[in-house]
Amino acid sequence: MKGQFKLDDYVLLIYDRRRRWLKKIKDIDFHCNYGMINLHDLVGMRYGEMIETNTGKKIKATMPTLLDWFDHFEHGSQIIYGKDAAMITLLLDAKPGDIVYETGTGSGALTSVLSRSVGETGRVITHEVRESAHKIAKRNHTKLGTTNVEFILQDVAEKGFIDEIDGIKLQADSLVLDMGDPWRAIPHSKKIMRTGARIVVFIPTYQQLDKMFQNLIENDFREVRAIELIEREIQYKKNALRPATRMIGHTGFLLHGTYYPSS
Ligand SMILES: C[S@@+](CC[C@H](N)C(=O)[O-])C[C@H]1O[C@@H](n2cnc3c(N)ncnc32)[C@H](O)[C@@H]1O
Repeated sequence: MKGQFKLDDYVLLIYDRRRRWLKKIKDIDFHCNYGMINLHDLVGMRYGEMIETNTGKKIKATMPTLLDWFDHFEHGSQIIYGKDAAMITLLLDAKPGDIVYETGTGSGALTSVLSRSVGETGRVITHEVRESAHKIAKRNHTKLGTTNVEFILQDVAEKGFIDEIDGIKLQADSLVLDMGDPWRAIPHSKKIMRTGARIVVFIPTYQQLDKMFQNLIENDFREVRAIELIEREIQYKKNALRPATRMIGHTGFLLHGTYYPSS
């Protein structure tokens, strides 16, 4: 029934703000500093209900959101922040049925947002040069149950992008680059991008931003712009409703544009 846990669902167990665990529901004991529960006891419980450990501590059982998965993904690299992933998806104009290209896959966090946006009729073609990260991303996505992502182990700077799968030629509706030297991927990108395809490049420093801005303009990308998003949490305390003292500072710039080939 909707709103209740079933066998094989993933559950987010919350003791407090910092202590959270993401687990698959099966007949197995889960131990933490606050005692033990058998995960099978969650079957039939409503989302948000409390479960008591054998030491009498209460733990809330909720359904994980995609953003919760970000915190619990196995990490093979620095993963994208939610604020950036959400805006990248909008800037790419990624929608059901689209073919979205990505490099590098990293841990597959951004891939998961893109996968959700393009839906069952779309495809994400993601490339990663490091075998360890490629394997981690695949493991993360096996847990998520993703079915519309092609994980390609390939150095895009050297070999370019896969443009054919199972004999079918592919054209990118959009491309996102989150990799060390994105300008090396641009000459290859021209072989797979359709006219009017969108691009977003995630860039950590001003030096790289300067270089990449120029690079996109020289390579037939137009309406090229860059933005930066700042996320500030508001703390909710009695008589002190105000921004939290600490915040995520700089993550990266989002450089974006549209591809209009001159010939
Ligand atoms: C910061 S991580 C990407 C994180 C990813 N966006 C996520 O949300 O999990 C950058 C990745 O790009 C990969 N990479 C760097 N150069 C590459 C290349 N030439 N071809 C393919 N992947 C590359 C790195 O190995 C690294 O895993």
